[in-house]
Amino acid sequence: MREQFILVLDEGTTSTRAMIFAPDGAIVGKCQAELTQYYPAPGWVEHDAIEIRDRTIACARQMIERAGGADRIAAIGIANQRETIVAWDRSTGQPVSRAIVWQDRRTAARCDALRDAGHEPLVSRRSGLVLDPYFSATKISWILDNVPEARALGDRLAVGTVESWLLWSLTGGLHASDASNASRTMLMDIAKGQWDDELLALHDVPRLALPEIVDCAGNFGVTSPELFGSPIRICGLVGDQQAAAIGQSCLAPGQVKATLGTGAFILCNTGAQPVASGHRLLGTVLFQLDGERSYALEGSIFVAGSVVQWLRDRLGIIASAAETETLARSVRDSGGVMIIPALSGLGAPHWRPDARAIVAGLSHGSGRAEIVRAALESIAHQLSDLQRAYAGDGCVWQSLRIDGGMSANNWIAQDIADMLDVTVQRPDNVETTALGAAMLAAMGCGLMSSLDEAASMQRSAASFTPGMENNVRKARMDGWRSLMAVHAASSS
Ligand code: G3P
Repeated sequence: MREQFILVLDEGTTSTRAMIFAPDGAIVGKCQAELTQYYPAPGWVEHDAIEIRDRTIACARQMIERAGGADRIAAIGIANQRETIVAWDRSTGQPVSRAIVWQDRRTAARCDALRDAGHEPLVSRRSGLVLDPYFSATKISWILDNVPEARALGDRLAVGTVESWLLWSLTGGLHASDASNASRTMLMDIAKGQWDDELLALHDVPRLALPEIVDCAGNFGVTSPELFGSPIRICGLVGDQQAAAIGQSCLAPGQVKATLGTGAFILCNTGAQPVASGHRLLGTVLFQLDGERSYALEGSIFVAGSVVQWLRDRLGIIASAAETETLARSVRDSGGVMIIPALSGLGAPHWRPDARAIVAGLSHGSGRAEIVRAALESIAHQLSDLQRAYAGDGCVWQSLRIDGGMSANNWIAQDIADMLDVTVQRPDNVETTALGAAMLAAMGCGLMSSLDEAASMQRSAASFTPGMENNVRKARMDGWRSLMAVHAASSS
């Protein structure tokens, strides 16, 4: 029999990608298409769901051709940007509005009102999350309250996160969401893995509009025959950050990864029970297999790679992200410049959706190298805040596995090791998100029998060992924490 491949659709915030994996984990082909970002008002971020669908299908077609046709694809695995919400008409497949993206802050006031009314304890206890506009529930309420067509559709309304939109579009009408994605909506009881009546009532979301919650690996349906020549099974569904944790083989309790992409997302495997954080971290489903869930404690940092994008596209002080490593190395330190990169508010453990970014400590001696270095240093500073929160919850990081586009920057990898005082490991294949989805799809279609077996698809890793003097680390963190305190006081 000819070799079979896994096709991964990795639908991220800034681009959608398709990748072909061989069963041994080798990447045979990649295709990427940018997604248009819409910013219709300050703090609002939207995507065009039709563009997501069409660009994903176009990339998938290229990869299927590269693999030699649909019959060479054993299964499709989907990993996706989480929390982003699409609402559509089941009878036409037409979205009723643009998708509201996870970074969108338009529902901050609604979250404040729910908190003031005393609902946060219920939300945290039941969903593992905090009341923040990041999550899907208030985005769904916003669509229901502000897009007249949405409620008018009645039973024809379908709502879901991006994997459910893609599943629906690729299969011609199956409406399901995996438990890792559903756990990010604020509508799921994470202990039970089911939609929760009290949370649905709190956000006034009709249960009928929501997808069925399913495992992360299994037979979820087949693609419509006209899409790719012949039907292909869809066998993996997973949120992209959970996928990265799986791709990094964080399969045992205590193992922790940080994906440095648009934002930085830290997930620590906590085993078979959700952990209630006392330090503003999130309880979340890592994966669900055969109805059994594994959980993670998550710290979500909203701005990591996107601060570099901002330096390039808005300030114009660098031509490419790759330049930042040379610039950071060209100076001994940041010369007192410090950046709080709250370009989309602040996530864990601060949860200040209205916070704005600041560049502090400028002098006549501050040039672009110092500013770039301060931007890169802000990654380790934010991770250090989270490391402390995790330790408070009893989860002490023994080492940290990093991945994502920004992890290719050796200066950042070393700075993280130095500032967190732990060994940092970076796999040779930093495409861990796609790999995690491939592992699940390989299990779902029977090519692999367990995630442990599928973990053989991962390759070796580079290590970064901490080497910073304690007093240097302490001085930097003291500076960061005082600036954060001033920043919090000035915006409250
Ligand atoms: O929770 C948001 C996260 O899933 C976004 O990931 O890789 O698209 O920045 P990414």
